[in-house]
Amino acid sequence: MKRLEGKRALITGAARGIGLAFADAYTREGARVAIADINIDRARQAASGIPRAIAVRMDVTHQDSIDAAVAEVERELGGIDILVNNAALFDASPVVEITRETFDRLFAVNVAGVFFTTQAVARGMIARGQGGKIINMASQAGRRGEALVAVYCATKAAVISFTQSAGLDLIKHGINVNALAPGVVDGEHWDHVDAMFAKYEKRPLGEKRRIVGEAVPFGRMGTAEDLTGMAVFLASSESDYVVSQTYGVDGGNWMA
Ligand SMILES: NC(=O)c1ccc[n+]([C@@H]2O[C@H](COP(=O)([O-])OP(=O)(O)OC[C@H]3O[C@@H](n4cnc5c(N)ncnc54)[C@H](O)[C@@H]3O)[C@@H](O)[C@H]2O)c1
Repeated sequence: MKRLEGKRALITGAARGIGLAFADAYTREGARVAIADINIDRARQAASGIPRAIAVRMDVTHQDSIDAAVAEVERELGGIDILVNNAALFDASPVVEITRETFDRLFAVNVAGVFFTTQAVARGMIARGQGGKIINMASQAGRRGEALVAVYCATKAAVISFTQSAGLDLIKHGINVNALAPGVVDGEHWDHVDAMFAKYEKRPLGEKRRIVGEAVPFGRMGTAEDLTGMAVFLASSESDYVVSQTYGVDGGNWMA
């Protein structure tokens, strides 16, 4: 028996990286999945390679776009049982160089995007009365500070906090809200992260990526596929009694 048979999932920021791996894993477990992304061309390309996936244009920083995307997915798939709030931006700089523009942009995507997408999807879940699963992408960065990463770390701490509050509020409707906190996961996202550290720590490109991978107790950086087991668990009925938790899936990185 597939673990997500008949379920319908919306994954934000799923045109590439971790969200795309979740879309693939969820469909292999029997779900239909909406790959929602601000980059609609990339989302369409991604959806064309996954059976039972559709692409949806969505910018989580605009309420109109959230509402339109949620309505489109509810219409196309008949409802939403699983939401993964995955879209996020990363930036780095010394504290004294943080700009209001960067602060507002990261909080708009990583925090407000999670709050208001959750709200829009939860309304439909409550109206249908069949519960649901909401999974927020946090990070080890939300559990501790990092010298050059103050804004991103603060956004992910906010995601962990919102997961606690939303989980407590929504469980009475049978909606589980939990979060997943990866450590360092290789992919296109890390091209940007590596370039930021190269700039501020004066390293050659690729060096930060190598160092962080070697520092993981497991022995290497994570892959998006390393996270899919937890993502499927949190989306399935196996996690019905799990409320407001943030699970580290990081090869031991945060603990170390
Ligand atoms: N890669 C890592 O090392 C790592 C570590 C910890 C946590 N995470 C978290 O995991 C999640 C996925 O990370 P990833 O590495 O796959 O990132 P990624 O940068 O590869 O993918 C992010 C996706 O979000 C989309 N997006 C950006 N702004 C958007 C918006 N306003 N509306 C809709 N979509 C938007 C992008 O187009 C992109 O497809 C993020 O929440 C990230 O913070 C990643």
